Amino acid sequence: MRRSVFAGVGAYLPERVMTNAELARMVDTSDEWIVERSGIRERRIAAAGEKTSDLALKAAQAALDQAGLEADALDLIVLATATPDETFPATACAVQAGLGMSRGFAFDVQAVCSGFVFALATADNFIKAGQADTALVIGAETFSRILDWKDRGTCVLFGDGAGATVLRAQDGAGTAADRGILKTALHSDGSKHDLLYVDGGPSATGTVGQLRMQGREVFKHAVGNLSAVVGETLAGTGLGVQDIDWVVPHQANLRILDGTARKLGLPREKMVVTVDRHGNTSAASVPLALAEAVGDGRIQPGQVVMMEAMGGGFTWGAALARW
Ligand code: COA
Repeated sequence: MRRSVFAGVGAYLPERVMTNAELARMVDTSDEWIVERSGIRERRIAAAGEKTSDLALKAAQAALDQAGLEADALDLIVLATATPDETFPATACAVQAGLGMSRGFAFDVQAVCSGFVFALATADNFIKAGQADTALVIGAETFSRILDWKDRGTCVLFGDGAGATVLRAQDGAGTAADRGILKTALHSDGSKHDLLYVDGGPSATGTVGQLRMQGREVFKHAVGNLSAVVGETLAGTGLGVQDIDWVVPHQANLRILDGTARKLGLPREKMVVTVDRHGNTSAASVPLALAEAVGDGRIQPGQVVMMEAMGGGFTWGAALARW
């Protein structure tokens, strides 16, 4: 049995901080409303000309540095984004070029806010199949570019950023006590398109479009889907909710995080929270939170980590790992 072991984690946030007070000068909202309904206090916004691949490259380099690897050690880059630099080529290829990686293969996956979990599962399956030994998995977004800055129901919720992890194959693992990714579970339900989508695209309209969301409807599905997929991911591993040391959730809304913790019967202190400072960075939110909790020493080797996310599509999924 081959396992994908985490060798490094990295993150990058754009310098510019946008506070709730600043948003309150742009749309009819308030710091109190945003904090009470979402838990968000501030978010980062990419500079003019700063692309998704620029953020991704910095996070990727940090993850490689932590792993002690050069880019040419990589066989594979999987980059999750819903805000690519261009319609094509893949933003992953821009990162490959930026790293100076002359071998292997790179491509994007698109599962919106679940993108990192989908990318992690994809890379894990390439590693388990023996088609890659070392993979870079990135979540990177510039959602500020697809927001309708006149829509107070959405523009206050999102931010920009990137996170990355390096996975390495480890042979000989076989029981739930071993390190690395133990199990992943993915889902989608295309019938929920209208609840969260972008009203543009190369084929549909020939424009980039802007994010549209029925927030309350999305909220209704989130806690149920997320707690179910966490249960599904634990099933058959010999591990239960009580064995989880850290949940690294997609950071959409503090109330969704709290609701999921309650439904799972998991102490709130086990949830890694960054939504207050990052907002919802879509595919970047899980690796950004992971990088923070590894960086400050909360996540320790041998601990059980559950990553989970839900996003447009709908898509949702989870990944269970022993660090
Ligand atoms: N400031 C002030 N008022 C706002 C507002 C804002 N930024 N955005 C919406 N409102 C208003 C609405 O217009 C509505 O007013 P009305 O009652 O007069 O019509 C009222 O607040 C309640 O809106 P509603 O959308 O029902 O609020 P809510 O409690 O559901 O909170 C969200 C809104 C978006 C924070 C919440 O639904 C949410 O987080 N949903 C999930 C979104 C999400 O996570 N998406 C990404 C998934 S990856």
